Amino acid sequence: MQDARCVPIGRGSNRDSEGAHAMLISIIDPRTDARYAEELELRYRVLRAPLGMSREQAGFAGEQDALHVIAQESDAASALVGCVLFDPASGRMRAMAVEPMLQRQGVGQQLVRALEAETQRRGVREITLHARATAVGFYERLGYRVRGEPFVEVGLDHREMMKTLIAPVR
Ligand SMILES: CC(C)(COP(=O)(O)OP(=O)(O)OC[C@H]1O[C@@H](n2cnc3c(N)ncnc32)[C@H](O)[C@@H]1OP(=O)(O)O)[C@@H](O)C(=O)NCCC(=O)NCCS
Repeated sequence: MQDARCVPIGRGSNRDSEGAHAMLISIIDPRTDARYAEELELRYRVLRAPLGMSREQAGFAGEQDALHVIAQESDAASALVGCVLFDPASGRMRAMAVEPMLQRQGVGQQLVRALEAETQRRGVREITLHARATAVGFYERLGYRVRGEPFVEVGLDHREMMKTLIAPVR
């Protein structure tokens, strides 16, 4: 029987040199799923520690109510290799992080695609985000467009980006 706390929403294949490398993309409930702790740890290692920030600074206000999408290497027991969340209160995608050893292998792209599919299913029509300047190209490839002027957040140059989700044709 499927674990109610883990909703697999697609099996991806990252593009490692071996070719077929299975990956599990899931939506998790941060209130009940043990993998939320792993999500926070991955976020800390990828996004916060390199900036000299603490583990406590890895979390966001209100994120218990956010949509959390995670990627695991093969199955629900394997290591977390990527994560992202969508905050319905602000309409923002946030906290996008991929395990450094697995970056540029399609993990991030699959996380965003899964987040878009689920937010769209929930009636969201537009996603915004604050992209690090170094990640703008990644989001542009996924159809996001820069809006407004550059700004600084956590000491890094950022751009606001947005994408309108196209409603599926019925
Ligand atoms: C940015 C990040 C989330 C991208 O995830 P990823 O798994 O490495 O990206 P993918 O392999 O899915 O890349 C998808 C496409 O975007 C491209 N891409 C990936 N990172 C990119 C970057 N930083 N700049 C430009 N293009 C990028 C890839 O080459 C690929 O292009 P292709 O489809 O033409 O081959 C990841 O590298 C990461 O965690 N970086 C450190 C933390 C960070 O910057 N988070 C975002 C904060 S806003």
